[in-house]
Amino acid sequence: EKSGYDHYMLKEIHEQPRALRQTISGRIDTDDGTADIDVDLPSEYVDSIEEIQIVACGTSNYAGRYAAELLESIVDVRATVEVASEYEFDGGRDPWRTLVVAVTQSGETADTLSAIRRAKRAGARTLAVTNTLGSTVVRETDDSVFIRAGPEIGVAATKTFASQVATLTLLAVRIGRARGSLSYGRARELLESVRRLPNAVQGVLDREDRVREVAREYADSDAFFFVGRKLGHPVALEGALKLKEISYDHAEGFPAGELKHGPLALVTEETPVLALLTDGSRPDETLNNVKEVEARGAPVIGATTADGDGRATDSAYLDVELPVPATGALEPLVANVYWQLFAYHVADEKGRPIDRPRNLAKSVTVE
Ligand code: M6R
Repeated sequence: EKSGYDHYMLKEIHEQPRALRQTISGRIDTDDGTADIDVDLPSEYVDSIEEIQIVACGTSNYAGRYAAELLESIVDVRATVEVASEYEFDGGRDPWRTLVVAVTQSGETADTLSAIRRAKRAGARTLAVTNTLGSTVVRETDDSVFIRAGPEIGVAATKTFASQVATLTLLAVRIGRARGSLSYGRARELLESVRRLPNAVQGVLDREDRVREVAREYADSDAFFFVGRKLGHPVALEGALKLKEISYDHAEGFPAGELKHGPLALVTEETPVLALLTDGSRPDETLNNVKEVEARGAPVIGATTADGDGRATDSAYLDVELPVPATGALEPLVANVYWQLFAYHVADEKGRPIDRPRNLAKSVTVE
């Protein structure tokens, strides 16, 4: 069932174009410039929303961060994201006007379920974004949207992250259009980016050999730092999480601008810095931070856009270029596939039990 791949994780990384096609199939309405998501959000309700609170854990939390960043930039609504185990509902005078969105692949994560229960008790409207039909979160929320990524076996979440972000982007478009705050033109642009995702991701997968080489070269480093700004920040966090989960190496993600406020003290020739230098992640500013770490001798692995203006090519030690034309706000999501492959090949080089990392479970059903 691994279809010739050594691990489920690698299989699932490679399934992303197909998973994404399923995720978006029938959901893009180019004529009206909106997303057709089968969800019960009447326009009067959408108009009345004061805040969207996203609750989720681990990788799903990072997908939520990506979405919150997007929502705030395209919809006139406050969007927050919280680690589910830290969540307290604070919904103001009319709690129903807060939409609480639980993002959970399994639909069974105890921390996320208890956050949703808290929100419901307080009177908020709840929505699940999940991969799993019939899961507990589906039964306990007012409504659900399925990410349709197909079953994910590897403990490290990969294809479901991509499908979560794609689904949440469609949801953001739907909400923005219903509220009238997202223009037809901008919506069309975003929908076009979503439509291009599967091919864009395939373009990255086609360059796996290059990523494997880089991963092997740096596998024995002391630690790994992932940096990115804006939409690149959740991707930096996700890259670091993936690497630590399966390779057991020390890895951390930061907003690129934070390096100089502390982490720079740890930067040496033995600590590669993986930098997101794509659209949607303020590449020029990040490049300045990249130069600071290069000056301290750290190898830099940059993910940049091939059709860009050669932003990183002179200064970065190494570029892993994105081979596709711009997918705008979704470029960081495409670039994330490089970090997935990087984590996989570092772990594989070390002979780790990639699909079943020590101490971890696919679905965490205790609080
Ligand atoms: O099923 P969920 O999406 O609710 O799971 C949340 C986290 O436990 C999960 O994403 C975890 O962080 C993964 N192992 C990450 O690869």
